[in-house]
Amino acid sequence: MSTQRMSDGKYDAEVDRDEASLRPQFLSEFVGQEKLRENLSVFITAARNRRESLDHVFFSGPPGLGKTCLAGIIAHELGVELRATSAPALEKPGDLAAILTSVGRHNVFFIDEIHRLKPVIEEMLYTAMEDCQIDVVIGSGPGARSIKIPLEPFTLVGATTRPGLVSRPLHDRFGIRARLDYYGEQDIRTIIDRSARILGVSVSAEAAGVIALSARGTPRVANRLLRRMRDFAQVWDKGGITAEVAERGMTSLEIDPEGLDKLDRAILLSIIDKFGGGPVGCETIAITVGESVDTIEDVYEPYLIQKGFLMRTPRGRTVTDSAYAHLNRSRRNGNSKLLF
Ligand SMILES: Nc1ncnc2c1ncn2[C@@H]1O[C@H](COP(=O)(O)OP(=O)(O)OP(=O)(O)O)[C@@H](O)[C@H]1O
Ligand SMILES: [Mg+2]
Repeated sequence: MSTQRMSDGKYDAEVDRDEASLRPQFLSEFVGQEKLRENLSVFITAARNRRESLDHVFFSGPPGLGKTCLAGIIAHELGVELRATSAPALEKPGDLAAILTSVGRHNVFFIDEIHRLKPVIEEMLYTAMEDCQIDVVIGSGPGARSIKIPLEPFTLVGATTRPGLVSRPLHDRFGIRARLDYYGEQDIRTIIDRSARILGVSVSAEAAGVIALSARGTPRVANRLLRRMRDFAQVWDKGGITAEVAERGMTSLEIDPEGLDKLDRAILLSIIDKFGGGPVGCETIAITVGESVDTIEDVYEPYLIQKGFLMRTPRGRTVTDSAYAHLNRSRRNGNSKLLF
């Protein structure tokens, strides 16, 4: 999950501790995504006042934008317990049944990576979500029988980076659906200021601007870069994170002012230099740059598309003129290859 994606060489436990302290607990601490926040606040208040469970909630969007965070916030705001798991951890129907039968009244059950549910588990979830009961098969062979087990009313929160892989019947059973999008620069600056206060490190306004520009519109990246800049400031003995520390720090991390890192640039350059600017399939790009297709599709591609450096076409990925300009390449020899 989140910590596995971090490749900045810190121990997981340390990353977890830092992440936990920076994680907003209540809606009021959650920065940005105003419309979503307002709506959630209304739905949560209404459910609380009616003493009912909140309708099931579905969050989609690129990694690090706050989906898991919001699951925790919903439980906090409702004043209930949170049970969390990830779809790949649910191997057998019994795994899901064990959790569902122990989820307390009106509590929140969070399933991360919900696009990875096995079909048999997904089917069990349908009746749980709709009728608050599950069918469990006892025994095997001719003597097998199915019994219905009633459940306490609960709220399922599902999250995915790949909404396109979630089946229609599952998707339709969520009453509240929201897509999280990349954050604007101002929101990222607010997150950096908040995190800096919690971590007890000073950041100049200019430095916060430098970090925000490189944060890919993603709170997790902003927090990670802030922690790295804190390290640089400490070792370079600068007292706090100044603009100089931030600029030198980004150069040391090989992150450019558009927020592109080495792999982003490798992806664009491989398409330009090896495939005449595209179109080229994602599998080919993945092999060329030595990364998994999933990581490219989940983490890298959405940002490059959002920045207008990459386009997804039915025939494959194509780089745009702004990518050529950003990387100082000329299109001269570009697509001419396709003519032969
Ligand atoms: N709106 C926000 N305001 C403040 N901090 C945020 C916000 N959204 C996310 N964060 C911070 O970013 C971190 C990453 O968020 P989170 O783990 O919820 O992302 P995610 O969408 O679940 O990612 P993934 O798809 O990888 O699971 C959180 O621990 C939190 O510190
Ligand atoms: Mg998550």
